[in-house]
Amino acid sequence: MTVSITVNDAVYRKTIDVRTSLLDFLRETLGLTGTKKGCDHGQCGACTVHVNGRRINSCLQLAAMHDGDHVITVEGLARDGVLHPVQAAFLQRDGFQCGYCTPGQIMSAVALLSEPCGSGDADVAEAMSGNICRCGAYENIVAAIQDARRTLGA
Ligand code: FES
Ligand code: FES
Repeated sequence: MTVSITVNDAVYRKTIDVRTSLLDFLRETLGLTGTKKGCDHGQCGACTVHVNGRRINSCLQLAAMHDGDHVITVEGLARDGVLHPVQAAFLQRDGFQCGYCTPGQIMSAVALLSEPCGSGDADVAEAMSGNICRCGAYENIVAAIQDARRTLGA
C-alpha cells in the first residue's frame, strides 16, 4: 500500500508492505536512524517518537496506521542548528551515556513537558518510567528535564 506521512516537516509518500512497523518505516524506509530499536516489543522506550504531538512507541505501531499523520523524530527537534532546550539540558547535565536509549529518553522528556505531569522529581521519574536505561543514568536525566522545564517555563 502507499502511505503519505509527514516526518519532521517533510512529506514522504512511500509504497510499503502493510506489515511494516512505524519504527522500521522511519529507520529502514526513510533512513532516519536516530530512532532506535531496542526491544521491538514496547518495553524499552528506545523507539519513542511523537505522532500528532503525542509520544508513542513506534515499534508497536504499523506505518499503515499513520497515513496522513505528522511524526517528529529526534532528528526533528533541533531547529536551524539550535538544540531543543531538552537536548541542551541533557548535554549540560550529562544526562546520557549511550546513543541507544538517549533518543527515546529525549523524545519522552520533550513530550512530558507538555503533558499534565507533576513538577516533582518523582513525578518526572514516573512519567519517564517507560524509558529504560540499563546503566542507571536516571538521576542526571531527571535533573536535565527539570532544568529544561525551568528554561521553557513549562
Ligand atoms: S524498541 Fe520500541 S519499546 Fe523497545
Ligand atoms: S545510557 Fe543508554 S542504556 Fe543507559
